[in-house]
Amino acid sequence: MCGIVGYTGIQNAAPVLLEGLRKLEYRGYDSAGMAVVQDGRIAVSKVTGRIAGLVEKTEDGRLLPGTTGVGHTRWATHGAPTEPNAHPHTSNDGRFAVVHNGIIENYMELREELTRKGYHFESETDTEVVVHLVEMYYKGNLKQAVMRTSARLQGSYALGIVCADEPGKIFAVREASPLILGIGIGENYFASDVTALVAYTRNAIYLEDGEFAELTPDGIQVYDCAGRPIQKKISRITWDIQAAEKGGYDHFMLKEIMEQPRAVKATMAPRIKGSDIVLDDVDIDLKQINKIVITACGSAYYAGCAAKYAIEKLCRIPVLTELASELRYSDPLIDGHTLLIVLSQSGETADTIAAMRECKSRGAKTLAVVNVVGSTIAKTADWCLYTWAGPEIAVATTKGYTTQLTVLYLFALYAARKLETIDDAAYRKLLTSLKALPKLLQQALDMNPNITQLAKKYHCAYSMFFIGRNTDYAVALEGALKMKEISYIHAESYAAGELKHGTIALIHEGQPVIALCCNDSITEKTMSNIVEVKARGAEVLAVAFKDNQKIVSLADDMIFIPKVNTLFSAAVEIVPLQILAYHVAKENGCDIDKPKNLAKSVTVE
Ligand code: M6R
Repeated sequence: MCGIVGYTGIQNAAPVLLEGLRKLEYRGYDSAGMAVVQDGRIAVSKVTGRIAGLVEKTEDGRLLPGTTGVGHTRWATHGAPTEPNAHPHTSNDGRFAVVHNGIIENYMELREELTRKGYHFESETDTEVVVHLVEMYYKGNLKQAVMRTSARLQGSYALGIVCADEPGKIFAVREASPLILGIGIGENYFASDVTALVAYTRNAIYLEDGEFAELTPDGIQVYDCAGRPIQKKISRITWDIQAAEKGGYDHFMLKEIMEQPRAVKATMAPRIKGSDIVLDDVDIDLKQINKIVITACGSAYYAGCAAKYAIEKLCRIPVLTELASELRYSDPLIDGHTLLIVLSQSGETADTIAAMRECKSRGAKTLAVVNVVGSTIAKTADWCLYTWAGPEIAVATTKGYTTQLTVLYLFALYAARKLETIDDAAYRKLLTSLKALPKLLQQALDMNPNITQLAKKYHCAYSMFFIGRNTDYAVALEGALKMKEISYIHAESYAAGELKHGTIALIHEGQPVIALCCNDSITEKTMSNIVEVKARGAEVLAVAFKDNQKIVSLADDMIFIPKVNTLFSAAVEIVPLQILAYHVAKENGCDIDKPKNLAKSVTVE
């Protein structure tokens, strides 16, 4: 779960690599490094910590002259974030350098073999075996050495490889880790994602698993795993440069929170034609489906938990939500009548990919809801519905979550109409409610200027409870995750009715409880739970519709959201909780866009 980037061309490579690494830093940020081929040798610079340290150490890249190079930003898996463990790794003879994103699963046996043959290891990483294999297999032809090396590797890897004896040339290899080639004029690039390329080119080639590419300033040649040249389609990158910049906001997270009305609109509008919902090329035979399983990790899983209510209510099909990391090992009861919905912002989450493959092998039909175009999950599924959220850079997802919900709501309504489980009048009414979401999200953003004050009150909390029922409970799950991942405050979500089965023992004088009360059918019940925790000294911050006066009289503090149909309320209700988490984290001086120990995309199990 790292970012890799490569450049070969006419300019000095290091500044280009640094710029690319800045864009990829969200993928991992505990150490970084670059290797540049210069005058028949390879010069390497590495730092622990952020890209800013590498910029400083190399004086903006000036200390590493040379027009071909590779760079890396790391999220440590094998070995601590130290300089020796930082990439690029170099061969013992110093003639080769390698950057890697992924995991080499058989590295222990390869390391033993290479050690026996006299290769000396300087790091604890799995990656270092790659560079020694390349050195071992190099007989004057880098392509052959790369192929022989790849054939020895098991696991997931995107690799960038340079050789001092073949200046101007980079090999980029892909197996189960994202890798995109950027086509320039007299210069070419590769990167883990398009955000690192978009400042330089809009023409890209998406490598498939098992393919590798030879980049020189004059061109790119892609090969299959047997080394046969293949022709690849050139895709246009549609994300613009501004989308990958902060645009005046202090943090990407805040920018992305604010972008939600637009992102939801972009996701929804092209799919509503008059009174019809048109879901791209999705042609699932819904009448053959007797069960829907939603699988994902983290916030994407919580989006599934929230949307489950809408799908079940409208389609009358049982919906199970399963954590991908559990589903893959659960011997799941899945067959050809199961529709598996796979949610993933990045499209590269390892557990989600594995769960999808497991279910596919059992016959499930698979529908992916993904943000990153061309990602593994998008390509592996039978059908894919993209969330047109644009790049999400902050590690904590916000617009990724709300656009996933949007797609699932569209799907629920579309499927209900196909299955004839709702009548025309209900369909039209719900479609109108759905179309209002962008406007309601904007209101939710605008109507709570008091959240900065609330953050000042609550930021010292040792822990927080998020409670709710039904759809409110699903939002509590995501609200608590947002709070803990960026503010480092312990936060627990509870189905409000469960409190008195144990957890209420933890309520004491001053304990913050965030009570979600936006599901009309069950708000009275949650209000009883508010009374119970207040009786034990809790400080209650309630989230409710503007007109809910009863809650105002019960709670210590209020956050309001505009009135929204309960089936779709999660998308609106989460917004103030994102803002609250953001301001609490800011009060606590946390690194909001890059929380400790995390990375944006979890490409390891
Ligand atoms: O890229 P994905 O949507 O598959 O990522 C899944 C989770 O890793 C992700 O949602 C994670 O929980 C976020 N950091 C939460 O903000």
